[in-house]
Amino acid sequence: MESPVLEMTDVSVRFDEDLVLEEVNLKIYPKETAVVIGLSGSGKTVLLKTLAGLYHPSKGHVKCYGRDWDDLSVIGRHDLAQKVGMQFQKSALFDDLTAYENVAYPLKEHSRSSKEEIHARVMECLKAVDLEKAKGMLPFEMSGGMKQRLGIARAIALKPEILFMDDPTAGLDPINSDNMADLILALKEEIGSTLVIVTHDLSRAYQFAGRIFFVGSHRVLETGSADETKNHPDPRVQQYLQGRLTGPLTDAGDL
Ligand SMILES: Nc1ncnc2c1ncn2[C@@H]1O[C@H](COP(=O)(O)OP(=O)(O)OP(=O)(O)O)[C@@H](O)[C@H]1O
Ligand SMILES: [Mg+2]
Repeated sequence: MESPVLEMTDVSVRFDEDLVLEEVNLKIYPKETAVVIGLSGSGKTVLLKTLAGLYHPSKGHVKCYGRDWDDLSVIGRHDLAQKVGMQFQKSALFDDLTAYENVAYPLKEHSRSSKEEIHARVMECLKAVDLEKAKGMLPFEMSGGMKQRLGIARAIALKPEILFMDDPTAGLDPINSDNMADLILALKEEIGSTLVIVTHDLSRAYQFAGRIFFVGSHRVLETGSADETKNHPDPRVQQYLQGRLTGPLTDAGDL
């Protein structure tokens, strides 16, 4: 059996008294597409950031390529972080940097590339998301869709082996959302990366998956392929998929 690239063992994450994730166990394998779904506020972003080593679990272990994020030295974390790209929800761009500089940032920070190599890679990434002409623009001058694409260009700059995407089609019109989905699938193909992607859009979830993971009641439940998820017996999953107001997810007051 192939070794997982990401592994959570008995992971709980809390912020002060607020328990977000409890006893999470999961494994993500090389080059797979794992799709994360669940209600707003259920902990999807926290899950992604914890997997990426950006949040520390209050309990349990998170391993990336078999190495526990918390056991690594600063240099070790820095090295491992090069293999990881993240497109943050709402893009989290550097507001005072141009589109070009936003994409160049991780390359300057994490790679030992020459100026010329960095320039070539930045232009390649901007081209991949159709933003070559916007290279001099600041984020506030860009539309929501452009910012989403720029967040992706920055995330792929280092050709990450693991790519995290947090709701990349959020706020996009149907045509741009389709374009974005095609772009993501094409990039995945090109980079050959492992993809962990959060989405609120079920048709996208089915289109991308892979395996689907449902976050709810502080737990992460692997619900399987698109078809397995649609027919999943867990009543919380069914409530979520059917968008019902009442049911175990909302009645229990857990979320
Ligand atoms: N840095 C933080 N400090 C304190 N609480 C946090 C932090 N990050 C997230 N939380 C809390 O964790 C819970 C889950 O948040 P999270 O952002 O993971 O939800 P989500 O599933 O991504 O929601 P959405 O679909 O709206 O993006 C929320 O109650 C949130 O307030
Ligand atoms: Mg989120």
